[in-house]
Amino acid sequence: TDPIDWRTLPKAELHLHLEGTLEPELAFALAERNGVTLPFADVDELRERFAFEDLQSFLDVYYACMVVLRTRDDFADLALAYLERAHVDGVRHVEAFFDPQVHAANGVPVDVVLDGLRAGFDEAERRWGITGGLILCFVRDLPVDSAAAVLEEVAPRAGELLGVGLDSAEVGYPPSLFQEVFARAAELGLRRVAHAGEEGPADYVWQALRLLGAERIDHGIRSVDDPELVRHLARERIPLTVCPLSNVRLRAVEDLRAHPLPALVEAGVVVTISSDDPAYFGGYVADNLAALAAAGIPDATLVDLAGHSIDASFASEARKAELH
Ligand code: ADE
Ligand code: ZN
Repeated sequence: TDPIDWRTLPKAELHLHLEGTLEPELAFALAERNGVTLPFADVDELRERFAFEDLQSFLDVYYACMVVLRTRDDFADLALAYLERAHVDGVRHVEAFFDPQVHAANGVPVDVVLDGLRAGFDEAERRWGITGGLILCFVRDLPVDSAAAVLEEVAPRAGELLGVGLDSAEVGYPPSLFQEVFARAAELGLRRVAHAGEEGPADYVWQALRLLGAERIDHGIRSVDDPELVRHLARERIPLTVCPLSNVRLRAVEDLRAHPLPALVEAGVVVTISSDDPAYFGGYVADNLAALAAAGIPDATLVDLAGHSIDASFASEARKAELH
């Protein structure tokens, strides 16, 4: 039989940081447009910094590049450039993260960020029929007060968001710190997801579920260390948005053949495949699927996981039926 073209398989992208789609070429173009200086001489020097040792060594580069994003048009251009690549990759629905606390620290108000990103998403829906929306992430290694403040600032525009998430440096910043902020988000009618169990322990996954009311867990791969948790995820059908190339690049796993994905799938957990920060990790979502296939995951399993990405999304049942 012919090899599967992973780009033609219908799928949703549920774990994607828009700032992590900033390709070095666009970063330097925006730096020039805005008169901002990046702490890297050129595109090649920036790419040389992509040999990451762990999550923090990536976050240092990722946050350094975010200074080039200043205007509404920058955010619109970033989103639209990503959504065009997603379209080519066969992605029909995108629920994407952004980190407004970091932009606020760079002097960019959350309204500017939201205006630009929404404009990009609206244009992509007109051009390519891509649906989805935005998930505001709280940056767990910034003060909880600043998370609460950004949430109050966007509260009047909560209807323009799908939900809230939790990202950035994990170990030492347990979900429990954000219990009140997530309760407030729920009050505003927002869906809730959280990064947990990427570098941090399985206990952080339990906390995200029990204390934050997370409906999906981003990464969640350390769940394999706790058989009771794995049974719970499977029984309750709580999806994990797994990002294989990210896990390898950030050394959360040694290589794809050592990835916990097969064990999770075997245990009946609803696993989806996403690209996390594709500009930094060497591939978009179809590349992640192709890499798993090359590492020995059966095609039929990967087709199932692509289907899960649609079912695990926050799209309406009617839209899910169209997406499949
Ligand atoms: N922010 C962007 N990518 C991230 C990741 N993989 N984990 C935590 N925070 C992030
Ligand atoms: Zn992530």
